[in-house]
Amino acid sequence: MRLEHKGFAPGSVALVNGGADGIGLAAACRFAGFGMTVCIVDHAADKLDAAEARIRAAGAPHTATFAADVSDRAALESIEARIADRFGGVDVLMNNAGIQPGSSMFGPDLARWQQILGVNLWGVINGTQVFVPRMIERGRPGTVINTGSKQGITTPPGDPAYNVTKAGVKAFTEALEHELRNTGGARLGAHLLIPGFVFTGLTRRGRTEKPDGAWTPEETVDFMMKGLENGDFYILCPDNDVDRATDEKRMAWAIGDIIENRPPLSRWHPDHGAAFEAFLKRD
Ligand SMILES: NC(=O)c1ccc[n+]([C@@H]2O[C@H](COP(=O)([O-])OP(=O)(O)OC[C@H]3O[C@@H](n4cnc5c(N)ncnc54)[C@H](O)[C@@H]3O)[C@@H](O)[C@H]2O)c1
Repeated sequence: MRLEHKGFAPGSVALVNGGADGIGLAAACRFAGFGMTVCIVDHAADKLDAAEARIRAAGAPHTATFAADVSDRAALESIEARIADRFGGVDVLMNNAGIQPGSSMFGPDLARWQQILGVNLWGVINGTQVFVPRMIERGRPGTVINTGSKQGITTPPGDPAYNVTKAGVKAFTEALEHELRNTGGARLGAHLLIPGFVFTGLTRRGRTEKPDGAWTPEETVDFMMKGLENGDFYILCPDNDVDRATDEKRMAWAIGDIIENRPPLSRWHPDHGAAFEAFLKRD
């Protein structure tokens, strides 16, 4: 479907949560290029002015920025009312804010787990439940994009809290798409953006140069826009190290743990790792 029939058109309004940097800022700039009004929410208040200048330079006739934490439902409700008042409502919503400070299963830091769940999972639930009802009510064509992760699908060891949030975002967004297509009068589609390795603040870890394997946020958004145009729900991005065929094998192996009655995360299990490597090489 053409992007203008999905809310990407002059006069429409986009909101990007976590839009002051990285993939969110690249998306906000891309949306600006359609001549849309672009709003961003980000808790990094110090980045908002520079982000707004870039979004305006990219073509947005009107912009608005809001310093807020997406885990704070009341803050998002107030922003929703202000956007509705000023611009009439939102047509394109991207729930993208995310953090990855690291986690461990039995670490003493309960607050860390709560923060990761609060931003990555509740941020997406809050953004959707606060903004989408008026998007439905408006009856205009529109799009909801939630940013997930391959870590929510293959759930590799090492960062359980992050994996839990991204698995939750996948399940939530699948249910959202089902709900939207069964809601009379709704002209909205939901999409799960699944980035590969993207060089951003989240993955920089002290590096100043982009590693060869990583994509830029702009490459990721190029791929996302093509996925939206194709009508893809799962927008599964490759990167310079991992192609789609490899991702398909990794995902098939992960679901195969259930079907074949293997232990979970068998890809990293000493008794099954070699079988996974052989599976990966099979045509
Ligand atoms: N970079 C990657 O390789 C990669 C891979 C898979 C998924 N992702 C996901 O992509 C999304 C964007 O991440 P990015 O890589 O662009 O990182 P980033 O750090 O550049 O951007 C994330 C933005 O979210 C904002 N943010 C963080 N916590 C917030 C909060 N509580 N409330 C509001 N805003 C908040 C940050 O200030 C930042 O501007 C995240 O959901 C991340 O999990 C990234």
